[in-house]
Amino acid sequence: MHERLERVWTRLLGRTLALLALATLAGALAGHAWAALAAALALVLAYTLAKLYRLHAWLLSRRQQPPPEQYGLWYELHALLRRRKRDERRRQRRLLALLATFREGAEALPDALIYLSEDFRILWFNPAATRLAGLSHPRDIGVGVTHLLRSPKVSDWLAGGAAEPLFDIPAPDDESRRLSFRLIRYGHAGRQLLIIRDISQLMRLEQVRRDFVANVSHELRTPLTVLHGYLDLLDPEDAPGLAPMLVEMRTQSLRMAQIVEDLLTLSRLEAGSAVDDDRVAMDGMLRTLRREAEALSQGRHTVEAENALPADLVGSAKELHSAFSNLVSNAVRYTPAGGRIAIHWRGHPGGGAVLEVVDTGQGIAAQHIPRITERFYRVSNSRSRDSGGTGLGLAIVKHVLALHQARLEIASEPGKGSRFACVFGPERVQPSLARAGAGTGA
Ligand SMILES: Nc1ncnc2c1ncn2[C@@H]1O[C@H](COP(=O)(O)OP(=O)(O)OP(=O)(O)O)[C@@H](O)[C@H]1O
Ligand SMILES: [Mg+2]
Repeated sequence: MHERLERVWTRLLGRTLALLALATLAGALAGHAWAALAAALALVLAYTLAKLYRLHAWLLSRRQQPPPEQYGLWYELHALLRRRKRDERRRQRRLLALLATFREGAEALPDALIYLSEDFRILWFNPAATRLAGLSHPRDIGVGVTHLLRSPKVSDWLAGGAAEPLFDIPAPDDESRRLSFRLIRYGHAGRQLLIIRDISQLMRLEQVRRDFVANVSHELRTPLTVLHGYLDLLDPEDAPGLAPMLVEMRTQSLRMAQIVEDLLTLSRLEAGSAVDDDRVAMDGMLRTLRREAEALSQGRHTVEAENALPADLVGSAKELHSAFSNLVSNAVRYTPAGGRIAIHWRGHPGGGAVLEVVDTGQGIAAQHIPRITERFYRVSNSRSRDSGGTGLGLAIVKHVLALHQARLEIASEPGKGSRFACVFGPERVQPSLARAGAGTGA
């Protein structure tokens, strides 16, 4: 390459200098050396300008034309530029092909992809978005996506930041079709990608699972009651040799009955979408919880209950009591003798309220906390095995809270204790009818 550069330029400079020298010499012979040199320079300049003009015209031409030059520096420049132009075109074609591949891939997806601007206007969507969300091309390009989806749940979800996916939303044109929504932010300039997926099949399977659990639990109830009834009729004193076995059989049959009851409760909670709107007086609730804790503790723990919010809770009294008492019984069960259990009802920023159960018990290691509300999930250690629980308590708590649009917050430190807080939104909290003052112990 550099050899070529050298060769072309040496030849060009040689020729130019030779031309100028020849012109000067001829001029000197005629007595007009300077004039001859100036004329030669003007010639070189005119030649260069003419070549530049041709190059410019060639660059401007849209059609692919062969370079007008055949040799020399100007031929070199044309050839180089032509190569650049050709490479550029090739790169463009490659990019376009890649873009088409991505686009075809996105169009072939069964899930709806909707590209959104920062202010939720639609930039592009694939054909699945037409099928699942009823979008129409090109009518809906540039339109705000919330106008188009027309579901208050989806609008609220987007307005709330859409951090978590949204499940089980009916499709706009077909109620029996269930959709899930997920929002992904990507790149710069606040671009967002809304993915809508048809989860009808998944929801049907989920329903089959729910029905199966509910039916099996229901079917187990009667045989267990019969077994338990007969076991009760047997008197250990009649056969002292069998007494330990009989006691164990009774314990286990009671436990089985409890599991069945818990599973039925869970099935009922899962099937329900709304709860009663009882007014739950929290003074009374705290008194009951405290009594229950003391009964379970049998004097092994200090139990305190504090009502710091003159407000009632709105929801199902029965379900809420079952959730709270599950937390209280866990606190007693997983706190060694001598520990303290505190139950608080207090306000939460934004007008909501919290019922929290704090203990000074064994605590829960961080890796278990995300899974602890799953059914049958138990932190495996000797104490929880001894305690004879089944791991359904917190699953019940979670479901009850979900039915009340509330959430469960868990904080715990192994060896120090745990805090389980049920956080209710302002819509579930009403000024107390029963009392005006605040801060009295329950
Ligand atoms: N306050 C607590 N302190 C320490 N560990 C706890 C506490 N509450 C729950 N756990 C742990 O979480 C697990 C799950 O609790 P969950 O209430 O769901 O089930 P369980 O108490 O084992 O059985 P049950 O169905 O009878 O309530 C428990 O096995 C226990 O290991
Ligand atoms: Mg429990």
